[in-house]
Amino acid sequence: MASVQAALGDPFVIERPPHFGIIIRDLDIDAIDRPEVRERLNDLWTEEGLIIFKGLFGRDTLVRLSAIFGSVQDTFLPEYHTENKEVHEVRFSPDTGWLMELDGRLLGGWQPWHTDSIFLLHPQRGGLITAIKSPREDGRTGFIDKIAVYDSLPDDIKQRIDGLSAIYNANAIEGFERPRFGQKAIKTIRYSEVVTKVHDRMDDFPEVVHPMVMRQPGTGRKLLNICPLFVQRIEGMDKAESDALLRVLIEHATDEKRAYFHSYEPGDMVLWDNWRAFHCATGGPPDEERIMEKTFIGGDYNLGHAL
Ligand SMILES: [Fe+2]
Repeated sequence: MASVQAALGDPFVIERPPHFGIIIRDLDIDAIDRPEVRERLNDLWTEEGLIIFKGLFGRDTLVRLSAIFGSVQDTFLPEYHTENKEVHEVRFSPDTGWLMELDGRLLGGWQPWHTDSIFLLHPQRGGLITAIKSPREDGRTGFIDKIAVYDSLPDDIKQRIDGLSAIYNANAIEGFERPRFGQKAIKTIRYSEVVTKVHDRMDDFPEVVHPMVMRQPGTGRKLLNICPLFVQRIEGMDKAESDALLRVLIEHATDEKRAYFHSYEPGDMVLWDNWRAFHCATGGPPDEERIMEKTFIGGDYNLGHAL
């Protein structure tokens, strides 16, 4: 694993995993009280898009570390709150969890490539996630860099999507089960109670529009701002043309040769830039419980608008 040049005086060690992001070891959590450390970590987050912190434990640390990157809050998915509203729980239980079949395999907790909360006017800037209980095998989170995706698009596609916007809704069940753009399709064996509760109030989430290309705040680098899971269609385009273009873009965007898949060890806290990265969950065996806790880190790129 390659090392990344740490700045003089960094109170941590930096390494680089394959394809995307950095790993930070030996961060003394009290060091984040120092303004220069907070600034350095924020710069690294913007520059790198994905930070895997090693050796950090506990809900208090999860919230405290999240808070140096933005406001830690979520009011739109209370179904996932723990007793602490700042912390979401994503749980697969063998007896009640969302059980799926994918390519003939039973899986719990699988999620396709997506961008969190892009069905809102103000998608969250990011999240910090940790594994409370991992299955013995798999249970990984995948990440793909949308800047690298955009950079590697053919020039004619870049020109074609310049100035276009896409329309989103919040219907995850539809997105999982009836993918239209060449993604993997699952068959649901059983829905979880929490997924059903969110699905029952889809009317709370009117459709929204986001540009398909945006510049990363802070650096100006262009990225492909689409979400394979929640996208419906391209604004102002007929359905056949929109479906065809989205299929090309999503096939390119979700090419897993660019993906980093994280296997959780105790003490891992993974910070991703939700504006900058796609993520997915590989799921785990149907007979093993998986519990993740995560925060929502707010922000507003001010590019979304109502339909
Ligand atoms: Fe997600």
